[in-house]
Amino acid sequence: MSANQQKKVRVFSGIQPSGQIHLGNYLGAIRGWVENQDKKDNIFCIVDLHAITTPQNPIELKKQTEILTTLLFASGLNPDKNTIFIQSQVPAHSEACWILNCITPIGWLERMTQFKDKSSNKKTVSAGLLDYPVLMAADILIYDTQEVPVGEDQKQHVELARDISQRFNNIYGETFVTPQPVIPSTGARIMGLNDPTVKMSKTFSHIKGHSVGILDSPDEILKSFKKATTDSGNEIQFSEDPSKAGVNNLLTIFKVITNKNNSQTEKHFSNARGYGDLKAEVAEVVIQEFKPIREKYQMLKNDQPELNKLINKGSEIAQSISSVKLSEMKNKIGFIN
Ligand code: TYM
Repeated sequence: MSANQQKKVRVFSGIQPSGQIHLGNYLGAIRGWVENQDKKDNIFCIVDLHAITTPQNPIELKKQTEILTTLLFASGLNPDKNTIFIQSQVPAHSEACWILNCITPIGWLERMTQFKDKSSNKKTVSAGLLDYPVLMAADILIYDTQEVPVGEDQKQHVELARDISQRFNNIYGETFVTPQPVIPSTGARIMGLNDPTVKMSKTFSHIKGHSVGILDSPDEILKSFKKATTDSGNEIQFSEDPSKAGVNNLLTIFKVITNKNNSQTEKHFSNARGYGDLKAEVAEVVIQEFKPIREKYQMLKNDQPELNKLINKGSEIAQSISSVKLSEMKNKIGFIN
C-alpha cells in the first residue's frame, strides 16, 4: 500500500451547544480541528445530549445548536472533508451509552473532576451529569476513534473512555479501539480574562469580561481585554508565578494565534509601555483572527436550508458508521438481532 493509500487516522471530537463559543473553545479545540482537516479522517459532533445534563431552556438550546453548526462551518471546517453532525440525531450514541453504563463502576464516575466541580453546591444534580463521561465514551468508541483532540479539561474523560473500552474488551472480547487524547501543546487551557485562576468557560459567559465569544464585535473584544485582570507589575514575560497568571494568559493567547514561541513573544513586547499595550495588541490579534469567521458566519446563517442539508448529510454518515459498531456490541452482549 502506498503512503497515499494508507488509511487516515480516525479522529472524533465534540462541542456543547450550551452557550457562547469562546476563545478557549477556539484555541483548545476548533482551531486544531481546522488545521488538521486534510490529514485525518475527522468526525465532529455537536453534543446536545451532553448539553442537557445541566438545565437548558429549550428555545435557547435550539438557537445555540443552530449558531454552533453555522460557526463550525464558518470557522473553516469543510463539509466535504469532515463529518459534522448533531449527536441527538444519531440514536447509536444513547444506545451505546446505556450498554457501557452497565459495565462502568459508579466509583469511576464519582472521581471525575468535572463532575465534582459541576455538582458542588448544587441542591440537585441529574443522573445525566454523573453519566456524562460514559456518553462521551460512547461517542468516541462507536466510531473506532484513534485520536480525540480536546482541551486539557477533557483529558480525564478521554482517559476514562480508554478504561471503559478496555473493560468491555476484557469482558466481551476485542471490540473497541482504545483512543488517545490529543492535547495542544499551547492553548489547551485558556483562563478567564476577569479571573485567570479559573479556566475560560461557557458556565461563566454571563459574567462581563470573563470570556470573548467568536462572534463578539471588535469593540466588545477590545473592552473585554482592556478589563483583563493582570497584576501590579509591568514585566511582560511568561511566568509560573501564580500572581502573574493574568499576564501569562494574555501572552499565551498571543503566542498561539501568532504561532510564535515564548522568546519571540516576549521579544515582540520588549518595547511595550506596559500592560495597556499588551492588552491592546492581544485584543487586536484576536479581533483579526475572528474577523473572517464572523464574516463567513453572517453569510452562512442566512442559508439555513443549506446548513440543514449539510448537517443531515453528516448525521446520515455518522449513523451508517456507528450502527455497525453498535450491532457488534449488541451481538457480543447477547442481544437477539
Ligand atoms: P466543551 O463544549 O466544554 O468544549 C469544547 C472543546 O473546547 C475545549 N475547551 C477549552 N480549551 C482550552 N481552554 C479552555 N478554557 C477551554 N474550554 C473548553 C474543551 O476541552 C473541548 O475540547 N465533553 C466535551 C464535549 C464532548 C466530547 C465528546 C469531546 C462530548 N463528547 C467526545 C471529545 C470526544 C465538552 O463539554 O466540551
